[in-house]
Amino acid sequence: MLCSLAGAAELDWWRNAVIYEIYPRSFADTNGDGIGDLNGITAHLDYLKDLGVDAIWITPFYPSPQVDFGYDISDYEAVDPQYGTMADFERLLAEATKRGIKVINDMVLNHTSDQHPWFKESKSSRKNKKADWYVWQNADLKGRPPNNWQSIFGHSAWQWSEPRKQYYYHAFYKEQPDLNFRNRAVRSAMYDTMRFWLDKGVAGFRLDAVPSLFEDPLLRDEPYRDGIDAYSERNVARIYTDNLPEVHEVLRELRHLTNEYPGAVLIGETYLPNVAELAKMYGKNRDELHLPMDMQLGFVNKLSVPDFRERLFEAETEINGNPPLFAFDNHDNIRSIDRYGDGAHNGEIQRLLATLLLTPRSAALMYYGEEIGMVTNTPTKVEDVRDPIGRIGWPKEKGRDGERTPMQWNNDTNAGFGGIHKPWLPVGENYKTVNVASESRDPDSLLNYYRKLIRLRKENDQLREGDFVLANEVSSRVLSYLRMTKDGKAVVIALNFASAPQIVNIDLSTRGLQGKHAKTLLESFSGVETVTLRAIALPGFGSYVGQVVP
Ligand code: GLC
Repeated sequence: MLCSLAGAAELDWWRNAVIYEIYPRSFADTNGDGIGDLNGITAHLDYLKDLGVDAIWITPFYPSPQVDFGYDISDYEAVDPQYGTMADFERLLAEATKRGIKVINDMVLNHTSDQHPWFKESKSSRKNKKADWYVWQNADLKGRPPNNWQSIFGHSAWQWSEPRKQYYYHAFYKEQPDLNFRNRAVRSAMYDTMRFWLDKGVAGFRLDAVPSLFEDPLLRDEPYRDGIDAYSERNVARIYTDNLPEVHEVLRELRHLTNEYPGAVLIGETYLPNVAELAKMYGKNRDELHLPMDMQLGFVNKLSVPDFRERLFEAETEINGNPPLFAFDNHDNIRSIDRYGDGAHNGEIQRLLATLLLTPRSAALMYYGEEIGMVTNTPTKVEDVRDPIGRIGWPKEKGRDGERTPMQWNNDTNAGFGGIHKPWLPVGENYKTVNVASESRDPDSLLNYYRKLIRLRKENDQLREGDFVLANEVSSRVLSYLRMTKDGKAVVIALNFASAPQIVNIDLSTRGLQGKHAKTLLESFSGVETVTLRAIALPGFGSYVGQVVP
């Protein structure tokens, strides 16, 4: 009995996991070509173990023409030579497993590269075995695209193909043709590639662009919204190309597949309009995604207590008790400190965001460099831009290079990223002080704050397993909540979102709890061993975590 309980907990490892996203191109370069590689990840596994992460999600490292830096895949069952070999991957997996770190692959189901053999065959004629594997349509009577659908990466989502004399649909770049997910053979082929990696021992997938899988079969025009986008096209409401109900059918099939591999997790890249849509992603019978990303909390993009309180409350009450997956950073968005920082208190605000990410009841997604305080390094000249959207949309859209700069390991040349050659993107300007080596030596660094927080989250029963309950619900300056276990024990978290000091009153009697004080477990400022719950004093942007005591 005991044995099977322990087993169940292990299979549910993802519920409160800390998952660390690695953009392999930018993490560490061991062969000196200016581009990170799989061996670079292996070389830093001890660092990740020490940080305390449960799993790493590696963005695509499969063979690719690299138009979208790996999200345009030309072979789903191999390693791009830029990143290493299959033997390197197997070694990475084995070394990670030895350290208790799980490896999650990225899986791009929505589209392949236009260089994938499937697409080459599909576009060769209207009659071939894969003719229906992509989304092909005739031109309208004037030779124009069949409708007004827009690519997320700018301009019409339809690209003309001469051999077939038809258009194909691409939700992203034209080099990323959308697969036809209404075709069973396409689904099976993709599911087989997933089995290929699961059989090797990966712990699951981060599923790219899940809501984009289907398009309206009637090809209806999207309605227009006010204004124009970064690419000077009229804004459209994506009601016919985004989040169609059939997505759920595929998610159930994917869950069915992963159920064959106990413990494997499905994480979804799920930018959705509201929590109701997010709730659906778990499946009515918990038979879809284990962890759809909650993009509502981390992307509030202003330090507003009422907004964060509402998002946390919704995540707690409106997703049927499933665990949320919170994230503030990823490879597609300006780093959080540049969205939330005020310039004068960035160190405190980074600790505040870290505490907010790592103390609610949730799984947490981190992005490399977040733990040391890397900032966005957006190109200032269009000639320097590598990400195509930054060239297509300049200057309104500057692309995603800024959040993909090399990991800052130390204050040597190229921040210790490695290499004889210049890194593929310039190293962030703050690397002399913001780097792993210096911060490891400084007990008060952001890195050590993250380490302590992650350790606490694992070791403290309430932070690991406790329910989430909002505490003082009226303060507009301090966000406070509790994590409580059934035995009546609680941890209190209080976060001051204002630059001025605040005193917050937390009355536990309304929650049926006895405690009047808290013993400090972690704080972003120094000095207090215990606090009185009815008057917790916090410095500007101070973060406090304490164990409730009588
Ligand atoms: C996802 C990825 C992004 C990529 C896009 C197309 O949004 O996170 O980096 O460009 O899908 O695959």
